Amino acid sequence: MSDGIRGAGLGLRSPHISHILENRPNVPWFEVLTDNYLNRGEVPHKSLREVRAHYPIVFHSVGMNLGSTDPLKRSYFERLSQLIKEYEPEWVSDHLCWVGVGETYANDLLPLPYTQEAVDHLAQRISQAQEWLGREILVENLSQYVSFDRADYSEVGFLVEVAKRSGCCLLLDVNNVYVNSRNLGFDPHAYIDAIPRDLVKQMHLAGHETTPECLIDSHGKSVSEEVWSLYRYALNRIGPTPTLIEWDRDVPEFSILWNEAKLAEVLLQGASQ
Ligand SMILES: [Fe+2]
Repeated sequence: MSDGIRGAGLGLRSPHISHILENRPNVPWFEVLTDNYLNRGEVPHKSLREVRAHYPIVFHSVGMNLGSTDPLKRSYFERLSQLIKEYEPEWVSDHLCWVGVGETYANDLLPLPYTQEAVDHLAQRISQAQEWLGREILVENLSQYVSFDRADYSEVGFLVEVAKRSGCCLLLDVNNVYVNSRNLGFDPHAYIDAIPRDLVKQMHLAGHETTPECLIDSHGKSVSEEVWSLYRYALNRIGPTPTLIEWDRDVPEFSILWNEAKLAEVLLQGASQ
């Protein structure tokens, strides 16, 4: 585990902030969605400063646009650097995706083909991002519903190759591995077996919806039994790794979210080093 962050943390969501500040629950750390704080006024920052005064945090971004063919936006990274300087997060993460090109933004995390060209492209851009931020970042595996015709790598082979080439580490979303394994037809255990354990610094868990056509990574309900089982497998293979429950739609009351995190904590405590 990281020296500074241990156990099962929670995503910091605005409906819970006053409860957290008033009651100071014994949550080991919070994950902060950095894009919500890049251009906001003083009020949300006042709350975040108060949270930070009492808890370790990690940063999670969606706006680096690491996979796009647009040049990386220097102004975005400068603002992010200011936030990092002010709040001193343990880690900064984003996704192995692209979110827009030119004037068009997808409002979604879009995949890249698993080709050598895409590895080269991402490795160069993640290296640049890390240079601008002056630190290593974590990149997260996506949920997917379709695959590209052309591929030089499997999904996990692509993820590991990009990490090795760029020097970044991984945020392993276990729910995304499970959802993709069902949607695209691969063995999720073999996926986890293929990841060098030292690359993984954080994990995500989340709920998904089951439809007749596919599984949807909805982040709107509790973690499924199948994903808990895969998480147990991942912890035993990779070792105890700080883990976050993602719940972004129909955000429940704080106690429900925290109970999910406590389930993860029990499994973390039982995992072999
Ligand atoms: Fe995630």
